[in-house]
Amino acid sequence: MKTLMLTAALAMLAATPSLAGDAAAGEKLFSKCKACHAITDASGADLVKGGKVGPNLFGVVGRTMGGLEGYAYGESLVAAGAAGNTWTEELIAEYLVDPTAFLKKLLADDAAKAKMAFKLKDGGADIAAYLATFQ
Ligand code: HEC
Repeated sequence: MKTLMLTAALAMLAATPSLAGDAAAGEKLFSKCKACHAITDASGADLVKGGKVGPNLFGVVGRTMGGLEGYAYGESLVAAGAAGNTWTEELIAEYLVDPTAFLKKLLADDAAKAKMAFKLKDGGADIAAYLATFQ
């Protein structure tokens, strides 16, 4: 009986729109990010042309927070990385909704601040899935 209930619960979980995003939808939404972010591979080829205000997002999923060498991050994101935090698709989706609120919560520090002056209400999971395709 227990197993049956567990199976039913898992089936329900699988049926709800999953947390995993839709990379194709994310590609379209990424136009909002290009003002500040490019996606440039290790050889220096621009896979997606964009601004340089924010860090290169190639390989960001799985990367240490604030961990791209040579980019001048804000203190809080560096602190998040120093504490051992790595970007997952889920965390990127959460970050995009409100970067400063995300860092305040993560660091349990009300004075924490994000240098990224942009908030995305919807579609974070889709963008995160899109970013995960650049590894
Ligand atoms: C107005 C410019 C701007 C826009 C628009 C913007 N960003 Fe950013 N982003 C930044 C800056 C600046 C940082 C560095 C933040 C810090 O140091 O606190 C950053 C950091 C990030 C990081 C953390 C990267 C790392 O190496 O730790 C991710 C992920 C990210 N942005 C994703 C996005 C996505 C996805 C979008 C579009 C939905 C977006 N950003 C839109 C400026 C921007």
